[in-house]
Amino acid sequence: MSMIMWDDAYSVEIQEIDEQHKCLIEIMNELYTALANKSNRDLVGDVLDKLVDYTKVHFAVEETLMRIFHYDEYEEHKAIHDRIVKRVLEYQGQFRAGNDKVGMELLMFLKDWLFDHINKVDKRYVKTFHKHGVKKNWLKRFW
Ligand SMILES: [Fe+2]
Repeated sequence: MSMIMWDDAYSVEIQEIDEQHKCLIEIMNELYTALANKSNRDLVGDVLDKLVDYTKVHFAVEETLMRIFHYDEYEEHKAIHDRIVKRVLEYQGQFRAGNDKVGMELLMFLKDWLFDHINKVDKRYVKTFHKHGVKKNWLKRFW
């Protein structure tokens, strides 16, 4: 595996969400670098925790917007997120239990999942969000 690259083809045309997706990629690359450099276990564990936490935060943001706008595919989308979080927590649990190999497995899993999810699932809510006045560009970075 190599570093993960963002491509504008993955844009959902809402900058705030694009930036969160880029942030996810950044943390995934951080994990990749930590694993490739055979960094110590604590450091790998810290990055892995960060990735798990940020994934949850990002999902919560998307789900909140979907609820606010009464998005009609909310239940399906939420169920997909829940499945991913469950898998990611399983990987985290295995790592904490002493399995060092799961870091790379988690990374491959998330990499395969992320771009597919953005294109096939996330892009479906864009029309609804835009219709309700969500702007394509943000004014500035707030976080
Ligand atoms: Fe999503």
